[in-house]
Amino acid sequence: MTASTNIALIIGSLRKASINRKFAEHIVSQIPNSIRVSEVNIADLPLYNQDYDDTTIDSYERVRAQLKAADAVLIVTPEHNRTMPAALKNVVDIASRPFKESVWTGKKVALVTASPGSFGGINSGLDVRKSMQMLSAQMIINPEINLSRATESLDEQGVSSERTQKYLQRFVDELVEFVGNTGA
Ligand SMILES: Cc1cc2nc3c(=O)[nH]c(=O)nc-3n(C[C@H](O)[C@H](O)[C@H](O)COP(=O)(O)O)c2cc1C
Repeated sequence: MTASTNIALIIGSLRKASINRKFAEHIVSQIPNSIRVSEVNIADLPLYNQDYDDTTIDSYERVRAQLKAADAVLIVTPEHNRTMPAALKNVVDIASRPFKESVWTGKKVALVTASPGSFGGINSGLDVRKSMQMLSAQMIINPEINLSRATESLDEQGVSSERTQKYLQRFVDELVEFVGNTGA
């Protein structure tokens, strides 16, 4: 790991009171200060259109550059209708193009899903993994974090459940190890 090690954070929910944002904030608070984490703003990205590959869209260039420069990408996302939210799929597509300029090739990607429901957003996670596999990204396999009944782990301060805190700590330890292996 170098002083400039950095993680780009994508939160798949656009809403202000997002529970996924709360989990992301907790995870980031547990990551050592030697690793920089910067959020990728996905809210202002026009819906991907292949015609745009021949032109320059500032917000597209911003996210592509940010993801390209990152040693790893951390995605924390809900599930919408049994798959990843459209805003997340949009940035996956934007960063995968133009053809042969995908930022995902070989990229280290770590994933957390959270839902108030019983399945923890697992289908969203599986679909992210499917896209990342096709795009030749490298993903943390274990632990696979799909937080079910996730609102029960939260209070106004953030993640209040000790069990969930411990579970997420294991994930953070893996993530630090994973990023630490970056081409050093
Ligand atoms: C359009 C839409 C579709 C949803 N579909 C699912 C779903 O398939 N599975 C699930 O567990 N929750 C689903 N939910 C509920 C979300 O898990 C819940 O709203 C959650 O709080 C969203 O995450 P956020 O708080 O980070 O925005 C859906 C919510 C919306 C708005």
